[in-house]
Amino acid sequence: MTDTQEPLSIIVAGASGDLAVKKIFPALFALYCQGRFPEKFHIAGFARTDMSSATFREHLAGPNLVCRYGPCDHCSGKQEAFLKHISYVSSPYDSPEGMRKVNLALLGEGGMDGQENRIYYLSVPPFLFLQVTQTLAAAGFLARGGSGWDRVVVEKPFGNDRASSDELTQGLGQFFEEDQTYRIDHYLGKEVIQNLMVLRFANLIFDPIWDRAYIDHVDISWMEDLGLEGRAGYFDRYGIIRDVMQNHLLQMVALIAMEQPVSMDSKYVRDEKVKVLRSIPPLALDDIVVGQYTAGEMKGKRYPGYLEEHGVPEGSIADTYAAAVLHVRNRRWDGVPFRLRAGKGLNARMTEIRIHFRSVPGNIFDGAAAMQPNELTIRVQPDAAIAFRIMNKVPGLQIDLGESFLDLNYASAFNAKIPDAYECLLLDVIEGDRALFIRSDELEAAWDIFTPVLHELERQRIKPEPYVFGSSGPEKAKQLAARYGASWSAQ
Ligand code: BG6
Repeated sequence: MTDTQEPLSIIVAGASGDLAVKKIFPALFALYCQGRFPEKFHIAGFARTDMSSATFREHLAGPNLVCRYGPCDHCSGKQEAFLKHISYVSSPYDSPEGMRKVNLALLGEGGMDGQENRIYYLSVPPFLFLQVTQTLAAAGFLARGGSGWDRVVVEKPFGNDRASSDELTQGLGQFFEEDQTYRIDHYLGKEVIQNLMVLRFANLIFDPIWDRAYIDHVDISWMEDLGLEGRAGYFDRYGIIRDVMQNHLLQMVALIAMEQPVSMDSKYVRDEKVKVLRSIPPLALDDIVVGQYTAGEMKGKRYPGYLEEHGVPEGSIADTYAAAVLHVRNRRWDGVPFRLRAGKGLNARMTEIRIHFRSVPGNIFDGAAAMQPNELTIRVQPDAAIAFRIMNKVPGLQIDLGESFLDLNYASAFNAKIPDAYECLLLDVIEGDRALFIRSDELEAAWDIFTPVLHELERQRIKPEPYVFGSSGPEKAKQLAARYGASWSAQ
C-alpha cells in the first residue's frame, strides 16, 4: 500500500463533463471530508470548455458537492477549503502547450515541486484516451524521473470489441505499465458488490451448497426506468450489451462463480476472476434476445420511444435491452444457467442477483403446492439488502407450510453511510490497491465472451424486439427464460 501522506496531484482530463462534475469531484470531496488526502494535494482539471478556475470552482460548488459526512454546519467551510485545492485549465486535448499550463497550475497554485505522486483521470470518451495520453507525454508529464509515482484511471467502455480493446490496451501500454493502469467498472465499488466475496468466503454455510448440486439457476437483473437522458451520442454507438452487460453484469457473474482466491491480494482476486471468465464459452446467438423501447406511459408521464429520442439516428438498431444466458463450463457450474437481463426504459430501477436453489427432493409435506425452493436475493440497488427465502411452518394447530424471508436490509442493519462507488474506487487508486479494477487479461476474457455475438448481431443487422417504455421488457425475453426452465424472478 502506498504512503498516503506523500504530496499528491490529481489531473482530471474532461473535468467540465458530466461524469467529472457529478461523480468524480463529489467523490474526491467526500474523501477530503473524511481526511483521506495528504495535507499537500492539488487537483488540476482540464477540458476544452473555456472558463477560468474561479468559474470552474463555482460550477463544481453546486448541488453535487455536498458534504455527506461530518456535521452539516461545517459544510460550506469544508467546501471552500476543498475548492482552494482545485484549478482549471482550458486546452484542446492535442495541445502540449495547453498541457504545460496544467503543469504550471500544479507548480504555481498547487505549490507542487514536480516530484509528487500523480493520478491522471481520463474522464473523456475512449476515442480520446490515446490522444490525451500522447499529449501529456509530449508536454513532459510522463517522464518526470524522481520518486513520485504516476497512475492512470480510465473509464469503460474499453473499446467496443476484443480487437479495439486490445488496441487501446497496447496504446496506453506505451505510456503506462499494467500495474499503473486502473480500469474502472464502478459497479465493483458498490457496497453490496464488494460484499459478495465476504458473503461467500467469510461464511461457512454457503460454500458447500454453492454449486450445480444445489443451485438450479442464477438470475442477474439490471433495470432502469430511464431513457437516454441526453446520452444518445454515446449510447447509440455502444448499446446496452456493451454499456452494462459486458462489464457490470459480467463482473457480478465472475464474483458469484469464481473460486476462493489465495488471499485478497489484487493479483489473486483477479486471477480467479479471469479463470472463471475463461470457463465461459462465447455467448451463442440462440441464447440472446435484444430489444429496443418504444414510446410508453409511466405514472401518468409519456416517454418517447428510443427512435424519437434526441440525437438517435433514424432507423437505429441499437439495443436498449438484452437478455442472455451464459454457461460456466467447469466442475462447479456445468449445467447451471446464468441468466442475465439488462434494460433501459423499464418499469423499475433495480439491480439484483438471485440464486435459485433446487427443489427439495422427496417432499414429505402435504400441500406441496406451497413448497418453494430456497432463494437467495442480493439486492444491489435501490435498497441494498440480502434476503434468503426459506420454508416455515405457519403457526397454528396443523402443519401448513409458508415461505418467509431472512432479511438483511442495509438501511436498518447498519448504522453507517454507504459510500458512493467512486469514493471507494478513488481511495483505492490513491492507496494503490488494484483488486477492484479490471486487469487487461480480464478485459480480454470479457470481450471474448461477447465479441462473436455482437459481430453476428451487426452482420445480420438483427432488429431488436420492440417493448413499451415502462414495461418489463420484450416478450421474447420471457420465452428465452422459459427455455431455461423458469420465468424471470419477479422484482
Ligand atoms: C453506467 C452506464 O456505467 O452505469 C449507464 O453507462 C448507466 O448507462 C449507469 O445508467 C448506471 O449506474 P448506477 O450506478 O446508477 O446504477
